Amino acid sequence: MTAPQETPAHEPTSPGRAPLRVALLGCGVVGSEVARLLTVQAADLAARVGAPLELVGVAVRDVAADRGPFVDRSLLTADAEGLVARADVVIEVMGGIEPARSLLLRAIAHGAAVVTANKALLAQDGPTLYAAADSAGVDLYFEAAVAGAIPIVRPIRESLAGDRVQRVLGIVNGTTNFVLDRMTSEGMDLDQAVKEAQSLGYAEADPSADVDGDDAAAKAAILASLAFHTRVALSDVYREGIGAVTATDVEWAARSGYTIKLLAVAERTDAGVQVRVHPSLVPLDHPLAGVRGAFNAVFVEADAAGELMFYGRGAGGTPTASAVLGDVVSAARHRVLGGRGPVESSYAKLPVLPASAARTRYQLRLDVVDRPGVLAQVATVLSTHEVSIEAVQQSPAVPGTPDGTAHLVITTHRSVESALAATVVAVSKLDAVRRVVSVLRVEGA
Ligand code: HSE
Repeated sequence: MTAPQETPAHEPTSPGRAPLRVALLGCGVVGSEVARLLTVQAADLAARVGAPLELVGVAVRDVAADRGPFVDRSLLTADAEGLVARADVVIEVMGGIEPARSLLLRAIAHGAAVVTANKALLAQDGPTLYAAADSAGVDLYFEAAVAGAIPIVRPIRESLAGDRVQRVLGIVNGTTNFVLDRMTSEGMDLDQAVKEAQSLGYAEADPSADVDGDDAAAKAAILASLAFHTRVALSDVYREGIGAVTATDVEWAARSGYTIKLLAVAERTDAGVQVRVHPSLVPLDHPLAGVRGAFNAVFVEADAAGELMFYGRGAGGTPTASAVLGDVVSAARHRVLGGRGPVESSYAKLPVLPASAARTRYQLRLDVVDRPGVLAQVATVLSTHEVSIEAVQQSPAVPGTPDGTAHLVITTHRSVESALAATVVAVSKLDAVRRVVSVLRVEGA
């Protein structure tokens, strides 16, 4: 008698269903990795989906350029519009607003599920895409749009759907985290660290989208919308980049028990939600303080779950492709088994508050005239504006400041941003204050 043939665990059975047609828009660092994974993991993906995934075309601007060994040249096409009309699942990794938006809308209109990594498009015009996907009854997935490989969209949308998120703190831009880390660990100044980030391929030749906080702001808008079931647009996000962070700020942060991180902060208050991106002092014992190099992490505080942290690689071809492929499998499973993934949840419609309404802690560093009564004058200004002092440190003159200067480091209790801003103006007008050296928000404490 012949023994029944067992299928080896590493060779999944190929389902008998007709292949699902997958179209890829864009074939750069991420797209070529998506194509590679679709090829080398074809058998596993087919088993997980219940049908083979067939790459039917790759839309690129330059069809003559070499796309590596995993992209069959015959699949390359400049006719992206034609391609999306003959696909079951469309993957958009081209970036930018147009033509990505039109192509995704066209794909949806043709009944395709769409998977996109396009944070700028989602942050700027997510509701249009959601509405189109909803009326066409197709999936819209975007795990790769926030923090690359890190599963964070799905956990917030699905795993925490039974909870109430209060706050999200994210290191969602790897380039700026790398730059701040080099400034912290090597004492580099910002320009040196940015140059190193460029030479390692983290930062673009024009690093402004990262350095100015634009990239992080787009991700913050997406995270906040998901976390608070409320539409938060890119224009709702207050944004301050790392361009003004100095080596001295970094040094003082360490002296006072903090490290500086560019944080995306999204929080719920009694009055609504507030979303901002800015350099922040993070206590050295907070989990986010240990996120080094170009890594990303998202720290979530929810009523029932408590504190959660999601950590990993936020950029790069292969990590981002991992997130894209996870979405492709979900969307493809729905094609095979029926059903749909989550749709936009914006029912809560919480008011989105301006930056001036934010409540956080601050650290002010001031160069002041070192004479009796100056500390009292400064403290009076804070008290007049209802800003409560938590700690004061005074150090002798910092090198480079005139004789008779003292350096004051004041950390406040939680205060309203507008009160703090007025305080800084008033403090800077005091005769005894030579310079407001820096004002940094303290988060995670
Ligand atoms: N430029 C981004 C970063 C990656 O440095 O994290 C893509 O969002």
